[in-house]
Amino acid sequence: MASSLYVVKHNFILTIMFCFMMIINFKYTRGDQLAPALFVFGDSLVDVGNNNHLPFSIAKANFPHNGIDFPTHKATGRFSNGKNAADLLAEKLGLVSPPPYLTLTHTKSSNFSSGVSFASGGAGIFDGTDQLYRQSIPLTKQVDYFGIVQGKITQQLGQIEAQKILSKSVFAIVIGSNDIFGYFGSSASSQNKVTPQQYVASMVLAFKGQLKRLYDFGGRKFVIFGVAAVGCCPSQRDGNKTEACNEAANFGASNYDKGLISALQDYQTQLKGFQYTYFDTYAVFLNLIQQPAIYGFKEAKAACCGGLGNLHAKLACLPISTYCSNRSDHVFWDLYHPTEAADRIIVDTAFNGPRKFAFPINVKQLVAA
Ligand SMILES: *[C@@H]1O[C@H](CO)[C@@H](O)[C@H](O)[C@H]1NC(C)=O
Ligand SMILES: *[C@@H]1O[C@H](CO)[C@@H](O)[C@H](O)[C@H]1NC(C)=O
Ligand SMILES: *[C@@H]1O[C@H](CO)[C@@H](O)[C@H](O)[C@H]1NC(C)=O
Repeated sequence: MASSLYVVKHNFILTIMFCFMMIINFKYTRGDQLAPALFVFGDSLVDVGNNNHLPFSIAKANFPHNGIDFPTHKATGRFSNGKNAADLLAEKLGLVSPPPYLTLTHTKSSNFSSGVSFASGGAGIFDGTDQLYRQSIPLTKQVDYFGIVQGKITQQLGQIEAQKILSKSVFAIVIGSNDIFGYFGSSASSQNKVTPQQYVASMVLAFKGQLKRLYDFGGRKFVIFGVAAVGCCPSQRDGNKTEACNEAANFGASNYDKGLISALQDYQTQLKGFQYTYFDTYAVFLNLIQQPAIYGFKEAKAACCGGLGNLHAKLACLPISTYCSNRSDHVFWDLYHPTEAADRIIVDTAFNGPRKFAFPINVKQLVAA
């Protein structure tokens, strides 16, 4: 504003040109973007590099062969051969993939124009998940960080404009797998003091609390991914001689998902303006694993990158690991994480899929609502 007033005084023609360019630019970006910004919360399934900034974390992916199919062919901290679900969702929304919050704070940038990612490998709904991976940003802290960002956006734009932008932005949350592994995983301690039902119920309750905080900060459009059939990932199959899925982990995930769905339905009736897409990751992921050929996959059990055992799942994907030649025909990149090809199917279905998998509305409908 100040600079354009300055121009008014000194050169009227230039001002007209300047305004004209502004309008063109404004229309161009609006036409491409389906939402003003994307804010991402979650674990390694959507971490785009936050953990690179955590010196004590062992949940890291900023080394080869991660990123081998990324546009830069370099490891970025994503636990994937290429783009992950956060990148692909941003793509669908016509947005630049939101940068990691810790990268922005390290560079002292407050450019939140396309959104921010708070996701962190190893993160859980419970703060305690952190113990396993030494250092990650649990969901509670991710929401704390969002509170800081919300404050800065409000400072920059004023309360009314900030609220308007946040209410149209997409809040995507992909979390819960690490909490499920912590109780039901093949290497989890069996000396639990609570029953499986109590455990998943407390996960739902804790998640609900954080979701309410995001709503109170001004979020209105939520894309919530349920926990997948994580008992079928290579690390869990590897715990059984038969290579069968870990049924306890799948049971935990599907029970958590049921509680999550009913929590979301509660909020839609209780919280004014609350809108959501729930994505049935469990069902879609199980389809990929049970009928891989239909989706163009040849291998749905073994990790592409990793080491030892039939499933290459005794070791993480490390610089010394071997990896498969065609990442597009594998569902799993490493012992825990899907390939970009699998994530693409997941995100396409969340965006445009039928009500059976993305309900009550899909992401495309959510952003248009
Ligand atoms: C802010 O980030 C967006 C995309 O990430 C970029 O297009 C834009 O130029 C940046 N703006 C500033 C002022 O750095
Ligand atoms: C291994 O899988 C079989 C099903 O194929 C199941 O009956 C058995 O309980 C599993 N073992 C363990 C240790 O999970
Ligand atoms: C890799 O796998 C995909 C999916 O199965 C297939 O379409 C493609 O032709 C394969 N590429 C090569 C080089 O074999």
